[in-house]
Amino acid sequence: MKAPIVVLCWSFAATVVAQNQTQAQCLQSFNGTIGNGTVGSEQQVSSLTVRTVNSTDANQGVAVDEQYFYSIDNYSITKHNKTTGRPLRQWYGGPDGPIIHLDGGVVINGTLYAPHSNYPNFPETSSVEEWNVTTMEHIRSHSFGIYRGSLTWVDQDSTGTWYGTFANYDRVQAGQTQPYGLSINTQLVRFAPGPESPFQYVSQSWIFPEELVSANFAPMSNSGGSFAPDGWLYITGHDASAAYVLQIPAAGSILIWVATVDLPSIAGQGIAWDRSARAQGGNGTLYGISRESRQVVEMRVPLQGCRPNTDLPVGMVLAPEDFVDTSSD
Ligand SMILES: *[C@@H]1O[C@H](CO)[C@@H](O)[C@H](O)[C@H]1NC(C)=O
Ligand SMILES: *[C@@H]1O[C@H](CO)[C@@H](O)[C@H](O)[C@H]1NC(C)=O
Ligand SMILES: *[C@@H]1O[C@H](CO)[C@@H](O)[C@H](O)[C@H]1NC(C)=O
Ligand SMILES: *[C@@H]1O[C@H](CO)[C@@H](O)[C@H](O)[C@H]1NC(C)=O
Ligand SMILES: *[C@@H]1O[C@H](CO)[C@@H](O)[C@H](O)[C@H]1NC(C)=O
Ligand SMILES: *[C@@H]1O[C@H](CO)[C@@H](O)[C@H](O)[C@H]1NC(C)=O
Ligand SMILES: *[C@@H]1O[C@H](CO)[C@@H](O)[C@H](O)[C@H]1NC(C)=O
Ligand SMILES: *[C@@H]1O[C@H](CO)[C@@H](O)[C@H](O)[C@H]1NC(C)=O
Ligand SMILES: *[C@@H]1O[C@H](CO)[C@@H](O)[C@H](O)[C@H]1NC(C)=O
Repeated sequence: MKAPIVVLCWSFAATVVAQNQTQAQCLQSFNGTIGNGTVGSEQQVSSLTVRTVNSTDANQGVAVDEQYFYSIDNYSITKHNKTTGRPLRQWYGGPDGPIIHLDGGVVINGTLYAPHSNYPNFPETSSVEEWNVTTMEHIRSHSFGIYRGSLTWVDQDSTGTWYGTFANYDRVQAGQTQPYGLSINTQLVRFAPGPESPFQYVSQSWIFPEELVSANFAPMSNSGGSFAPDGWLYITGHDASAAYVLQIPAAGSILIWVATVDLPSIAGQGIAWDRSARAQGGNGTLYGISRESRQVVEMRVPLQGCRPNTDLPVGMVLAPEDFVDTSSD
C-alpha cells in the first residue's frame, strides 16, 4: 500500500515545480476519498519554510490579510507589516479582562474574528471576539456560553460559510477531577447565520476519525483550522509539527482524513492560509506560529488541482441477481 503512494508524492512534487502556473494535479487521496479515515496517515505532503518573524504575541495563533499579519496570544494581538514583519500596533486586554484565552483568528473584510474560550477553567465556555483591524479596537462579541467544548478556530470556506471546532480534552486540568470533555468529543461545526451574528446557529457537526484523535490529538485536541485557496480544510493538533487535511463525508458523522502535511517549523496551534497570496510554483502560503521561539512562520504548501467532493457515491443499488447476503458479512 505504501510504496505507490510515495511514488505519487514524488512525481507530484516534480510536477508542481516544473509547471508552476499551470493547473496542478491532485494527490490520489484528495481525489475521491470515501475511506475510513486512515488514508491521511499514509499520504504525506511536504512543505517549505520561507520566513520566520519574531513576535512576542506568537503564542496561540496567527491571522493574515492582504497587507498585514497578526500574532495572537491569550489576551493580546500584534499587527505586523506583512512585507517587513515590523510590528505596528498591539491590542492588549490584560490578565484581568474578560478576554482570557484567544486561540487564533481570521481576517475577513477588515474584521479579525478570533475564537475565545475560558480554557482551562471549568465549565468550558466559548465566544467569537471581533476586532476592527484598521483601528485594532475590539468591536463585537458573540457568546456561546457553555456549549460543546472550547472554541479553538473559526474560518469561512470558499462559499462564505463559517466553520469552527469546539474542542474537548482527555487531560484532567489542575484542580479538576474529571477529564476536560474527552478528546473524541471534539466537533467540527458548520455555523448558520442569524440576525444577531454569523455564528448564531450550528446547522451540522462532525467528529474527527478515532485514529487521528488517538495518534495525534490526545490528550489535547484540534487547535487550528484554515481553508486553503484550493478549498481544502487544513487543521492542526496542539503539539505535532503537522497539519491534517480533512473532508466532510458524503454520509455519516466522521470526517475523512485525506492527507498529512509535514510542517517542521511549527508545533500545532493556530494556522492561517494567506488567501490573498498568489500561488508560487503550485504552492500556497500558510502562516503558523512557533510557541517555543515566539515566532510567526511563513510556509509554502502544495495546492491541489482538485476541490473537495462531498457528493461521492454512498453504496450501490443492486438487481436481485446481485443481491448481497448480509448475513455472511
Ligand atoms: C515559474 O517558476 C520559474 C522558476 O521556478 C520562475 O522563473 C517563473 O517566474 C515562474 N512563473 C510564474 C508565472 O510565476
Ligand atoms: C480525479 O480522478 C478522476 C478519475 O477518478 C480523474 O479522471 C481525474 O483526472 C482526477 N483529477 C485530478 C485533478 O487528478
Ligand atoms: C481502514 O482501511 C484500511 C485500508 O483500506 C484498513 O487497512 C484499515 O484496517 C481500516 N481501518 C478501520 C478502522 O476499519
Ligand atoms: C513548493 O513547496 C515544495 C515543498 O512543499 C518545495 O519543495 C518547493 O521548493 C516549493 N516551490 C516554490 C516555488 O516555493
Ligand atoms: C529573534 O529572536 C531571537 C531570540 O530571541 C534573537 O536571537 C534574534 O536576533 C531575533 N531576530 C531578530 C531579527 O530580531
Ligand atoms: C510595509 O513596510 C514597507 C517598507 O517600509 C512600506 O513600503 C509599506 O508601505 C508597508 N506596508 C503597509 C501596508 O504599511
Ligand atoms: C496562556 O494560556 C496558556 C494556556 O493555554 C497558559 O499555559 C499560559 O501561561 C498563558 N499565558 C499567559 C501569558 O497568560
Ligand atoms: C465589507 O465591509 C464594509 C464595511 O467595512 C461593508 O460596507 C461591505 O459591505 C463589506 N463587504 C462584504 C463583502 O461583506
Ligand atoms: C474600522 O474602523 C474604521 C475607522 O473608524 C472604519 O472606517 C471602518 O469601516 C471600520 N471597519 C470595520 C470592518 O469595522
